[in-house]
Amino acid sequence: MNIRQNISLKSYNTFGVEANARFFVEINSLDQLDMALRLKGYPEKFILSGGSNMLLTRDLEALVLYINIKGKTIVSENGDTVVLKVMAGENWHQLVLWTLERGYGGLENMSLIPGNTGTAPIQNIGAYGVELKDVFEGCQAMDIHNRSLRYFNREECKFGYRDSYFKNEGKGKYIIVSVTLRLSKANHNLNTSYGAIEAELSQQGVDEPTITDISKAVISIRQSKLPDPDKLGNSGSFFKNPIVDFKTFDRLVKKHPNIPHYQISQNSYKIPAGWLIEQCGLKGKRIGDAGVHEKQALVLVNHGGASGKEVLDLAYKVMAHVKETFDIAIRPEVNIIK
Ligand code: EPU
Repeated sequence: MNIRQNISLKSYNTFGVEANARFFVEINSLDQLDMALRLKGYPEKFILSGGSNMLLTRDLEALVLYINIKGKTIVSENGDTVVLKVMAGENWHQLVLWTLERGYGGLENMSLIPGNTGTAPIQNIGAYGVELKDVFEGCQAMDIHNRSLRYFNREECKFGYRDSYFKNEGKGKYIIVSVTLRLSKANHNLNTSYGAIEAELSQQGVDEPTITDISKAVISIRQSKLPDPDKLGNSGSFFKNPIVDFKTFDRLVKKHPNIPHYQISQNSYKIPAGWLIEQCGLKGKRIGDAGVHEKQALVLVNHGGASGKEVLDLAYKVMAHVKETFDIAIRPEVNIIK
């Protein structure tokens, strides 16, 4: 195994913050993963994949396992559906494009989400009305302690809004090595009801969209408000949208009749944290090189030289401001390494 020392993780995290790994090993196969987990002398292991949903606020003393296992296999198919097994290190958006080229539907609304396939189930990635769980069959994961492989079906993953088993009971116990998806080959279940998609498609004059049209619309919407991590460091939405009860919602709506919201159940409403942050006057705010994105207040950005601590400090200030103004607690969606 090629264990390297004192490696900068700046190019391995989409926030582009500086942090060093004391030990670092790239993993390209299941055998290598098994071997690395068995290594003595490195009691602490840190699992790194696309680095697109984490904020590093310190150097890592652990052995960093950089999961870069590639491969896509068709498990089964018939006239209507295809079941696809994708290894953890495959880049998510490249996978989306690959499926669209073959006419497979299901991932188009999740175009351009940064990160790798293996981490998609951890936070049940989602965008524009579709979540990973909608196309998810199962995933295979390696137990960090005994290195056995276990298959998790959809129920066992306990998916919720930006949430899963792997963020809760299963945290720190498994490394997802592959994800199995069920996609459509015909009669695609198009999801165009999200307002911004409808608007984009009609602006482009598309009446009967194909899966590729939807992907193009999503790409265009995302590019118009979400920063490209290659140009401006970020981790997508930094916070989750808070879910409040009817009483809280009623209090808000009386004061702000136009508040955007999605009703989830009779007594729960999701409020866009981006809206709350913008109302606090924080959109575009900067403290040094850490900033709130000027086009989407839910996204924190690194204008170049911000440290992880500085971004975290800004996040705390944003949270405190929202709490003070609306009496609502917003929480980070990003995995913060403290
Ligand atoms: N809004 C504002 N100001 C802002 C941002 C948003 O007023 O600065 C308002 C918008 O006008 C709109 C509402 O808030 O009325 C919702 O905004 P948007 O459609 O941009 O979606 P979001 O709720 O802010 C969520 C996801 C995104 C995903 C979009 C589209 C979370 C935490 N974020 O954002 O996911 O792309 O919906 O489905 O649920 C990510 O997780 O990294 C991510 C980008």
